[in-house]
Amino acid sequence: MPRRLRKAVIPVAGLGTRMLPATKAIPKELLPIYDKPIIEHVVHEAIDAGIEEIILVTRSGKEAIENHFDANYELEHRLEKKGKKIILKKVKNIIPPEIILSSVRQNDALGLGHAVLCAKRLIGDEPFAVLLPDVLVLDKDVEASDKSFSKMVKAWESSGLGQIMVEQIDPTLVENYGIVDLSNKASKPFESIPIKNLLEKPNKQDAPSDLAVLGRYVLPNSVLDILTKTGPGIGGEIQLTDALDTLISFEGLNSFETNAEVFDCGSQQGFLIANLAMGMRDKNTRQHIMKFLGFLE
Ligand code: G1P
Repeated sequence: MPRRLRKAVIPVAGLGTRMLPATKAIPKELLPIYDKPIIEHVVHEAIDAGIEEIILVTRSGKEAIENHFDANYELEHRLEKKGKKIILKKVKNIIPPEIILSSVRQNDALGLGHAVLCAKRLIGDEPFAVLLPDVLVLDKDVEASDKSFSKMVKAWESSGLGQIMVEQIDPTLVENYGIVDLSNKASKPFESIPIKNLLEKPNKQDAPSDLAVLGRYVLPNSVLDILTKTGPGIGGEIQLTDALDTLISFEGLNSFETNAEVFDCGSQQGFLIANLAMGMRDKNTRQHIMKFLGFLE
């Protein structure tokens, strides 16, 4: 029977503390990366991979995220009256009309595992993806129809095994990420390899590899039951990584490496560089950047 992945959970309840004061009144997910909010890039990444329903796990004060994906009749009316057809089209078609966007509240910041659990009822009995909205995954091949996340969804479809996307990182940074143990098996981009263990933010000396979980997951529904039994882990939070580590012993879980450029847009540097990287992909903007940096007269 073909496996279909229809739903994706995007946790957006974070406070954006690393980006304060910019995120005092604006959700960090709505800060723009070049031409659109970070969250819009991530939602499109999911839709491009065949996702039909986006579930936002949100909190009070972040209603602007839902509004961004909803109709704004007054704005549309004014743009129409002024004949601003191009921008009107963009405003009206943020996501295709057949895509369902729903949301649920996380009323306490108890961790990523807890955020996913808040979406349990909306996920129902289906497999689901999780995409972290701080992270922008920019594939090297801009024109490719099949980007890293789509490829990972296909790896799930063909194997039925949960997949988590990883990237090679500087070994001195392992303490900031979930790290996979592949029993010393060599990992190559776009290869799906069984994970032996998963460690959330290990010390440098305990890290089994330099392959970091970057924030894209395709998971079997069974992980939700595991999550209900998962107690607080590192930082006193319910960690998705801990539940996934348990999942490995029950039914296995694979790592899926990408060679895409990955940006942590929740930090000042990551945000700035992501904007530059996106700008460099536009011919006209690239000229401006190169000129500003002194590479062009
Ligand atoms: C979360 C995950 C971690 C992953 C990281 C990627 O951590 O728990 O495994 O490596 O996202 O950004 P957080 O950054 O929310 O502390």
